Amino acid sequence: MAETPHIRGFKLIERIPFLIGNTLPELHRLALKHDGYYVFDGGPHQQLHVISKPDWVKFILKDAASNFQRGPVINALKPLLGDGIFITDQSPWKSRHDALKPALKEDAFEPYLNIAREEMERLMDQWISSQTVPNVERDIERCLLKILVRGVFGYTGEVHWDEIILRHKAILNAAGIARQKIDYYVRKVVGKKRLPRNVERYQDDLQYLELFANEILAHSSTQSSVFYRYIGDQSAEFQRDMVLNILFAGYDTTASALSMTIHQLGAHPEWQEACRKDQIRIEHVIQESMRLYPPVWALFRQNEEEVRYEDEVLLANTYVMIDVYSLHRQPEQWEEPLTFNPNRFSKTGTKGMAFTYLPFGQGQRMCIGKPLAMRELTELVKTLTACMSWTLNGDRHPSLRTDIILKTKKGFSLSVRKLRR
Ligand code: HEM
Repeated sequence: MAETPHIRGFKLIERIPFLIGNTLPELHRLALKHDGYYVFDGGPHQQLHVISKPDWVKFILKDAASNFQRGPVINALKPLLGDGIFITDQSPWKSRHDALKPALKEDAFEPYLNIAREEMERLMDQWISSQTVPNVERDIERCLLKILVRGVFGYTGEVHWDEIILRHKAILNAAGIARQKIDYYVRKVVGKKRLPRNVERYQDDLQYLELFANEILAHSSTQSSVFYRYIGDQSAEFQRDMVLNILFAGYDTTASALSMTIHQLGAHPEWQEACRKDQIRIEHVIQESMRLYPPVWALFRQNEEEVRYEDEVLLANTYVMIDVYSLHRQPEQWEEPLTFNPNRFSKTGTKGMAFTYLPFGQGQRMCIGKPLAMRELTELVKTLTACMSWTLNGDRHPSLRTDIILKTKKGFSLSVRKLRR
């Protein structure tokens, strides 16, 4: 068997995906060139194994999953996520998973979906009256944050939504782009009398989100929300961590999926008509949009113990990145992989694609919010296509930004028209 290619000379390996200027096309090019497995190699203990081969993906996420933890990229978010479901493993994880699962099960969806439709209709009215939407991603982020906070936590207050989004993003970016700096902030600097300005800002952002989480909790308890029904008897820390983990996982991901679906429907208006005729087409359109633009474009892992698979040995504590973006564009699996074609899901949906198509991850740690997210996205696209039609202003193939959650680099704009039926 051929040796795995090593691309040498990289330092600061955890930052590599964020350092390459045009990250995703570049990762895709390398994945094609090296057949889905290569190593960024900066010397001993400075390796990042980049994987987009389905058999390896299965090995990491399923067969040897208990040896692979989420590792440093997610751990860098510990100040935000505390001991929540994202960060913990084994029995602490299981207790959090079991507490959250019933709050996100299907019979809790109906009230949530009513709120989702209501918020989307409000936004759509604004879009229709202005006819041009200059920044779709920003509007959708705000709308989906409101839906999550109202729908899951029962919160009905008004807050500075944009302020929450900005501060949340600042914390995520600090984890993604400047992990080393965060370690520095958190481990070494915090506690000193005078903090450098950016550290003060980080602390301030964190405190702002914590205050918001506390307000949500205080409100949730009086409204007996779905969330409170299941989490209400847990400790204050458990509840705080849970709110911040759900905020982290729940709105920006769904916002990215919806924005890119709207983007693709704007670039291919014939599919808007297909969605109006048949609800199942909506699902295929969403699946295809998440194939080309997976909101979680990479999954990060680190193995606790040395592990061997085929001829490859991963020493303990090796960093692994599953390159979901390239996996979803792999020519062996997808016919014309760069073409937007929802029909590819029309025969069997996503059946048989467990390790080739993973917008929601796979294995034990896959997304607990998947059923809710899919129902919500379907309802929102149905609401939009029923009332308006739109065309994309600008490029069908947008440049992408690799924050923790996938976004376009410059945002995008639409021209919108009310449908008369
Ligand atoms: C389109 C929308 C969404 C996408 C694409 C998405 C994607 C993902 C992915 C890929 C993972 C696994 C990450 C990994 O393996 O490292 C994950 C985990 C998770 N997601 Fe989602 N997600 C979405 C919506 C939601 C929603 C709406 C919620 C909750 C309301 C949610 C809650 C979670 C939680 C709590 C986890 C951690 C599960 C665990 O560690 O056991 N997600 N999500």
